[in-house]
Amino acid sequence: MTAILQAVHLGMTYGGRFEALRDVDMTIQRGERVAIIGRSGAGKSTLLRIFNRLLHPTDGQLKLDGKDITNAQGRELRMVRQRVGMVFQQFNLVSRLSVLDNVLVGTLAQREGLSILPTIWRQFNRQEREWAMECLREVEIEHLAPKRATELSGGQQQRVAIARLLAQRADIILADEPIASLDPRSAEQVMNMLRQVNETHGVAVITNLHQVDVATQFAQRVIGLRDGRMVMDTTADNLNEELLEMLYGDQLENAQHPSDADARGHGVIEPQGNFNDASLPQALV
Ligand SMILES: Nc1ncnc2c1ncn2[C@@H]1O[C@H](COP(=O)(O)OP(=O)(O)OP(=O)(O)O)[C@@H](O)[C@H]1O
Ligand SMILES: [Mg+2]
Repeated sequence: MTAILQAVHLGMTYGGRFEALRDVDMTIQRGERVAIIGRSGAGKSTLLRIFNRLLHPTDGQLKLDGKDITNAQGRELRMVRQRVGMVFQQFNLVSRLSVLDNVLVGTLAQREGLSILPTIWRQFNRQEREWAMECLREVEIEHLAPKRATELSGGQQQRVAIARLLAQRADIILADEPIASLDPRSAEQVMNMLRQVNETHGVAVITNLHQVDVATQFAQRVIGLRDGRMVMDTTADNLNEELLEMLYGDQLENAQHPSDADARGHGVIEPQGNFNDASLPQALV
């Protein structure tokens, strides 16, 4: 196996005061499926956001293919974000665009020098359109291509988000609780889709999950964070009750039997704040 992403003594202190991550050492192999679990506030989202440099760590280093990208900027940072893509709990599609255009936006990551979404979204060539359709076919929603993002169910929207990352030819997909807003059936389909993308294309998938059973079914390796520290790194097969108790303490029951609280509403959430940073292809950032 070859290392693709490496965290070296990574730390994150918010606002100079709150230490959300401390001394995280982690190596992700090319094509691996990894789940990150831990209590709410353990630092899971912070870590994923550092992994594609949406956040800048306050300590340590981040390496992609052995190259230090901790302080990458400009063109290099765009390359990092093209290769390390993110799927969010709330989908983050551009609601006014069609499904196909949302995926085409992913192909922009291959281009240079474009910065304004509204003026370019009609300028895709035939090759790019065909590639975007192929990516939609891959996640089995080709037939939805002309629909608006707002017309889709939560599970369908999440598949569009995955297709967009395929379109941008990401090597690593970071998924921050990708199924937390979905009903159980859609959740299963989305996890299956992430697995398929991993197995077919060798894309590494690192996902934060609240449900331990989903984590062990999906991932080959399960990493546990507690209070900002990495306290567990094990194969899914070796994850046992003792480790889980160490990780979750009195919240273990919640993690093993999540209530329907996870089946929150669906629907496109309008982007807020630094939406571009987070979910748009890297050529636009
Ligand atoms: N922008 C911020 N400023 C200050 N503190 C923050 C910020 N973002 C997160 N934190 C704090 O850092 C800690 C880790 O947050 P993070 O969102 O990474 O946890 P998490 O493991 O993803 O939690 P959850 O399971 O609830 O999503 C939390 O205590 C949180 O309150
Ligand atoms: Mg989180």
